[in-house]
Amino acid sequence: MSSFQVQALPRSISLANVTERNIDQLVRLHVKIFPIVYNTKFYDLVLKAGPFAQMVMFNKVCVGSVCCRIQENPLDPSLSSVYIQTLGVLKAFQRLGLGTHILGEAARLNNPKITSVYLHVQTCNSVAIDFYLKHGFRLIMTAKNYYPSMECKDAYVLSREVMSQNQNQNQNQNQIQNYYGCTTH
Ligand SMILES: CC(C)(COP(=O)(O)OP(=O)(O)OC[C@H]1O[C@@H](n2cnc3c(N)ncnc32)[C@H](O)[C@@H]1OP(=O)(O)O)[C@@H](O)C(=O)NCCC(=O)NCCS
Repeated sequence: MSSFQVQALPRSISLANVTERNIDQLVRLHVKIFPIVYNTKFYDLVLKAGPFAQMVMFNKVCVGSVCCRIQENPLDPSLSSVYIQTLGVLKAFQRLGLGTHILGEAARLNNPKITSVYLHVQTCNSVAIDFYLKHGFRLIMTAKNYYPSMECKDAYVLSREVMSQNQNQNQNQNQIQNYYGCTTH
C-alpha cells in the first residue's frame, strides 16, 4: 500500500463589506447564482447596507454573498427584522459550509430591536429550503405569485426568531400574515 497521502488544502474563509470598489464582483456573483435580475436600485441600497451586505472570500476568491436589509415591524415600530434579500454561493463552492458561514454572519445580531430573520424562497428551490430548515428556520406561509415573471411563481416565507424565548410565535405569524395578506401554514 502506498504511503502517499492527499493533504487537504488549507481553507481560509473571510468576509468583505460591499463597497464601490468591489460592487462589480457582487453584480457578477448575482448574475451567476440567482435566476432573478437585480436592478441598479437594489445595488445602490446594498452599498448603503453596511454590515448587512457581505461577500465571502474562499482562499481570497469571492465565491458568495449575503445581502440583507432591516425591515421595521409594521405593527410595532419598536421591533425590526433582518430580511435576507439574497444569499448564495457559486455552484463549485457549494456544500463546503460557506452558506452556513454567511448565514451566521447575517444572523449575528446585537440589536435588541431585531426579533427575527426572514426571507422569501421559491417553492421549487428545495436545496435552499433544506438549507434554511436545517438552520432552524420555520415555514411561515406561502406567498402566491411572489415572483410573477418566473416559471416557479410562488414563494415560501421562512423565518427564524432571534429572541425566541420572549417572543410569541403566533403573534409574529399573524403579524406577517396580516402584512402580506397570505396563507399561513
Ligand atoms: C442554499 C445555498 C446558499 C447553500 O450554500 P452551501 O454553501 O452549499 O451550504 P452549506 O455547505 O453551508 O450547507 C449546509 C447544509 O445545508 C443543506 N444543503 C446544502 N446544499 C444542499 C443540497 N444541494 N441538497 C440538500 N441539502 C443541502 C445540508 O443540510 C448542508 O449540510 P451538510 O453539507 O452537512 O449536509 C446554496 O445552495 C446556493 O447558493 N444556492 C443558490 C442560491 C439560492 O438559492 N439561495 C437561497 C435563496 S436567497
